[in-house]
Amino acid sequence: MFVFIWTLCIVVLQSLAQDLPTNYEYFASTKITSGVTTNETSFFLNGKAFSIYSGSMHYFRNPRAYWRTRLTQFRAAGLNTVETYIPWNLHEPQSGFYDFGGGGSEMDDFLYLEEFLNLAKEEDLFVILRPGPYISAEYNFAGYPSWLLREKPMGFRTDEENYIKYVSRYYNILLPILEKYQFTKGGPVIAFQIENEYGYTGYKNFQPSKNYLNILRQLYLNNGIVELLVTSDNAIGRGDSGTLPGVLFQTTNFGDSPEAYLDKLAQLQPNKPLMVMEFWIGWFDHWTDSHQTRSASDMKDLYERILKYPSSVNIYMFHGGCNFGFGNGAHLNNELLDNSAFLPTTTSYDYDSPLNEAGDYTQKYWDVKDLIHQYNPIKTYLPDPPTILPRVAYPKIKITQQINLSDLLTHQPPHVLLSTNVLAMELLDINNKSGQSYGYIVYRKENVDLEAQTTLKIEGHVCDTIMVLVNGKLVSPKLESSRDLDNFGYWRVKDSSLIINTDAIKNATIELVVEEWGRMHGGSIFQYNQTFKGLWQGK
Ligand SMILES: *[C@@H]1O[C@H](CO)[C@@H](O)[C@H](O)[C@H]1NC(C)=O
Ligand SMILES: *[C@@H]1O[C@H](CO)[C@@H](O)[C@H](O)[C@H]1NC(C)=O
Ligand SMILES: *[C@@H]1O[C@H](CO)[C@@H](O)[C@H](O)[C@H]1NC(C)=O
Ligand SMILES: *[C@@H]1O[C@H](CO)[C@@H](O)[C@H](O)[C@H]1NC(C)=O
Ligand SMILES: *[C@@H]1O[C@H](CO)[C@@H](O)[C@H](O)[C@H]1NC(C)=O
Repeated sequence: MFVFIWTLCIVVLQSLAQDLPTNYEYFASTKITSGVTTNETSFFLNGKAFSIYSGSMHYFRNPRAYWRTRLTQFRAAGLNTVETYIPWNLHEPQSGFYDFGGGGSEMDDFLYLEEFLNLAKEEDLFVILRPGPYISAEYNFAGYPSWLLREKPMGFRTDEENYIKYVSRYYNILLPILEKYQFTKGGPVIAFQIENEYGYTGYKNFQPSKNYLNILRQLYLNNGIVELLVTSDNAIGRGDSGTLPGVLFQTTNFGDSPEAYLDKLAQLQPNKPLMVMEFWIGWFDHWTDSHQTRSASDMKDLYERILKYPSSVNIYMFHGGCNFGFGNGAHLNNELLDNSAFLPTTTSYDYDSPLNEAGDYTQKYWDVKDLIHQYNPIKTYLPDPPTILPRVAYPKIKITQQINLSDLLTHQPPHVLLSTNVLAMELLDINNKSGQSYGYIVYRKENVDLEAQTTLKIEGHVCDTIMVLVNGKLVSPKLESSRDLDNFGYWRVKDSSLIINTDAIKNATIELVVEEWGRMHGGSIFQYNQTFKGLWQGK
C-alpha cells in the first residue's frame, strides 16, 4: 500500500513538472514582435515582463564535447540565459583568415560559435553576446589578435582610423553570422554588449571616446543587429563615461555592496530596468598567488540582495573553465611600460565558480538554484541537474620517446629566419606576415668564440622568460620558487646579466629560448601598442 501511494505521488509530481512551459514556450510561442525592451523598470521580452538570470561560460574555455552538459547544468540551476565573450584573436588568428570552427587553426575545435548558439537554444537558454572587440576576460591580449601590433598607427580602443579599419573588417564578417541568431529572428541572442568596461580607458589626459562607441554601434546597426545594445562598467567609479547615455543601455559590474552600485545605476539611468552584467562570484589567479576563493555563504547573501533589490544579473563566472593553449592574459602596472610589473594569470580559470573547472557542482551552484527558485515568479520547466561523468585516473604512461630542442628546430615549422638584430615575435615575417602570436622563440648565434667567464647582458626586460643554452647545454638558473623571478631570466629584472661559461670555448652556439607568458588584458590604454613579446627592448 505504501509503495502504491509513493508511486502515485511521483506520477503526479512528474505530470505537474511536464505541464510547465519551457522558457521558449513561455516567451516565444506567440508571434515574436519584440526582443528585450527597457521602457519600464522591468525588462520585457516579446511583451512579457521578466528578469534575466544569467551565468557566464566562455565556449573557448571549455572543450566542445562538454558544451551541452554544461548548458543543461545552467538551465537546471534555473538560469534562463548564458553569457559569453567572443575572442577576436582566436577567430582571426592571421590577418584576414577567419576560423569559426574547423578552419585549421590550432584552437579550431573550440571555435564552433554557431554550434554553441544552437546548443544554448536547444537547452532552453537565451544568450547574451559580448564580442568586444576588447574583451579583457583575463584572456591573452584582451582578445586582440597580436598581429595588430605590426600596424602603425594602431589606436587600440579609440576611433583611430587604422584600428577602426581592422575592427570593421572583422565585424563585417562576424556580425552577419550572429545576425541570424537574434531572438527576433527566431534565435537565442537577446542582447549584445559593446566594448567592455570602456569607462576604464579614462586615464591621465585621455577621455573615453564617445565617437568610438558610436562607430561600434553603427557597425552593429549596419549589419542588421536589432536586439538590445548594452555597455558595462563600474557605475560608481566610472559613472556613464563608458557609454552613450540614452542610446546604449548601461549595466554595472561589482563583487560587493549591491545596493550602492544599483542605487547609482538607477540614478544614472532612471526609470529603466537594472542589470548587473558581472557579479563576481569568485576570482581569477595570478602566477605565484594561492587559489583565490570567495566564501559560498557571502556570495549567497550578495546574490540574494541583488535579486531582492530587484535587479537582473549575470553571474561571472558561472563556469570558468580553463585557458587552453596560450590563452591566459596578464596584468600590467599602469605606470610601468617596461614589463617589470607583469603579472600573468594562470592556465586554470576555475574562478571558484558554482561549476568548478572540471564541471563539478559546488555549494554555490545549489545556493543559486535555491535563490532563483525562490525569486523568479515565472515558473518554467527545468531539467534535473545532469550527472557528471566520474573522474578517471589515467594509468601511468611510460615515456619512450622525446624530441630535443636541436631536432625540433630542424622541423618545418618552426621557421628559421636570419636577422642582424633581435626582433619581437609579432614582427617576424612568418604566418602570412601575421608574425607569431604565442609560445616560444629561439634567438641563436653561431660561431662565437667565448673568452673565459663571458658575461651575457640583456638590455631592457625579457618578455617574458629566457633560458640560455651554450652548445645545447642549459646554463641559466631554473625557476624553482617565486623568488627566482627577481633574478636573471625573468621579466622583473632590467638590464640583467649572466656569466655563461667558465673556460674559454671556441666556435660556440648560443641560444636564447624566450617564452611568452600571456599578453596584457588590462592596464593603461597607452600600453596596448607596446606589449611585444620576445627580446626587443634593447637599443
Ligand atoms: C513597454 O514595452 C512592452 C513591450 O513592447 C509593452 O508591452 C509595454 O506596454 C510597454 N510599456 C509602456 C509603459 O509603454
Ligand atoms: C638530439 O637527439 C638526437 C637523436 O634524436 C641526438 O642524435 C642528438 O645528439 C641530440 N642532441 C642533443 C644536443 O642532445
Ligand atoms: C597562409 O594563408 C593561406 C591561405 O589562407 C593558408 O593556406 C596557409 O596555410 C597560410 N600559411 C601559414 C604559414 O599559416
Ligand atoms: C663551428 O661549429 C659548427 C656547428 O655549430 C660547425 O658546423 C663548424 O664546422 C664549426 N667550425 C669550426 C671552424 O670549427
Ligand atoms: C601608443 O598609443 C598611444 C595612445 O594612443 C600613443 O600616444 C602612442 O604614441 C602610441 N605609441 C606607439 C609606439 O605607437
